[in-house]
Amino acid sequence: SSGARVPVLVIGSGYGGAVTALRLTQAGIRVAMVEMGRSWTAPGSDGKIFCDMLNPDGRSYWLKDQTDAPVSHFMGAPYNKAIPRYTGVLDSERFAAMRVYQGRGVGGGSLVNGGMAVVPKRQYFEEILPDVDADEMYDVYFPRANTGLQVNSIDPTWYNSASCYQYARVGSSQANSAGFKTVSVPNVYDFSYMQRELAGTAQRSALASEVIYGNNHGKQSLDKTYLAAAAATGRLSISPLHKVTAVYPAAVGGGYTVEMQQLDTSGKVVANKTVTADKVFFSAGSVGTSKLLVTMRSTGRLRDLSDAVGEGWGNNGNVMVGRANHMWSPTGGLQASIPVRGIDNWDDRQHPCFAEIAPFPAGTELWISLYLAITKNPNRAAFTFNPTTGRVDLSWQGSWSGPSITAAANMFNKINSREWTVYRTDLFGGNKTWGDDFTYHPLGGCVLGEATDLYGRLTEYPGLYVTDGSLLPGSTGVNPFVTIAALAERNIENVIGNDFG
Ligand code: FDA
Repeated sequence: SSGARVPVLVIGSGYGGAVTALRLTQAGIRVAMVEMGRSWTAPGSDGKIFCDMLNPDGRSYWLKDQTDAPVSHFMGAPYNKAIPRYTGVLDSERFAAMRVYQGRGVGGGSLVNGGMAVVPKRQYFEEILPDVDADEMYDVYFPRANTGLQVNSIDPTWYNSASCYQYARVGSSQANSAGFKTVSVPNVYDFSYMQRELAGTAQRSALASEVIYGNNHGKQSLDKTYLAAAAATGRLSISPLHKVTAVYPAAVGGGYTVEMQQLDTSGKVVANKTVTADKVFFSAGSVGTSKLLVTMRSTGRLRDLSDAVGEGWGNNGNVMVGRANHMWSPTGGLQASIPVRGIDNWDDRQHPCFAEIAPFPAGTELWISLYLAITKNPNRAAFTFNPTTGRVDLSWQGSWSGPSITAAANMFNKINSREWTVYRTDLFGGNKTWGDDFTYHPLGGCVLGEATDLYGRLTEYPGLYVTDGSLLPGSTGVNPFVTIAALAERNIENVIGNDFG
């Protein structure tokens, strides 16, 4: 409540925040967590908590009048539709030349993501974070994160025959024919539940086109894993629909003043609150944390923050693309929304690319193969506070996706020429082949060892910490949440050991 004083305040309930909250509460420390999105526990009038991708309603998007789907067009026609304005679960936050998709709600990105739980290649991890002890990460913190996240793998025998993974088998064998290696990708979706979905003995979720607007069943999102465990200690309180707007040193008694707005589900501010915290953990995600910190530095409220705050943002080299298959290569009318297979060409020195074979769960046969490629794009953007608009800008330029397209085209041109197929140019609007102006994987803005010390401390302000994807320098080479969670595990262990007396 307003005016309260708390030992620890965590801003945001995604991976960085959830890991931090669990370890602090287990260490006996009370944690107040503030999350701008809803708590997704109460069903709507249709009896469901989340809506599916084929029938989006207000629950789909964060305060928009229209859906803003990544695949925005079909057969050249716009695919988006009007929805009521509501604090929905998926945000597509627009900057000048980049849309950033993010989860909004208790659980952050885990509510909307594909659940792919990938440990990065050790050599690449050492390249991006050379000052982090890789032995420790691979021996202790990656396994710890995988356990906490309840990662599991698909049974290969079931995968080979399941109708809902025909699209993955087609994509995989085409990649193999073109000379590329494919790998099975672990996930947090419970595959035994999915088997029951296909058998008809459980309510469908992955098999009912549910994923980016939330899964009603099957997915072990953070609210069911880390956050549930933290809540079970009795030391965690979560305030949903509370958005932090400012953090600065408290005038009296030490610690930090945290200003926040309480929202209703139409996005209206219903109350302004101020809390004082001895320690504040920024876990608002790459965009949320970077925006808050650059704003606080520019407006003088945390004026001594390092110049590196706001720098080093990248999109993990994300680019999306679709291919048109021949009539004799159907991808299946029933497609599991949870991806389980990747094309792994990361070791190609010239064109490293790790592509997830993505579903196109339209509920009908479309002969489309869709991919989300992760590439090694060297371009990095910066967040800056714009005093004229009072908003934060991101300097990413449209042309900066060039290196990602080159690397992905190296892979998919080979597959197309081997299969005698072509790209779909009707999926991203304006005859575009490449979905290159949006990302699912925002990373950086507060890079470990540059904007913070090697454990996420904002050293100019003792008691302020960064825990989320903003610590990673713009790239992980794979889907990022396991890396974010493992790094958070490592950092909080050090912080609990040294900063709590
Ligand atoms: P995260 O974004 O999870 O959490 C931040 C939280 O802070 C959010 O809940 C937000 O609402 C809240 N917040 C922000 N500002 C705030 C403020 N001012 N006050 C209060 N709260 C605030 N990754 C992967 O590894 N495998 C996958 O399969 C996928 N698939 C995928 C699909 C889609 C559609 C998306 C959008 C993303 C993915 N990802 C993914 C990416 C993954 O979800 C992402 O990397 C992590 O969620 C990032 O974790 P963080 O802890 O950094 O922030």
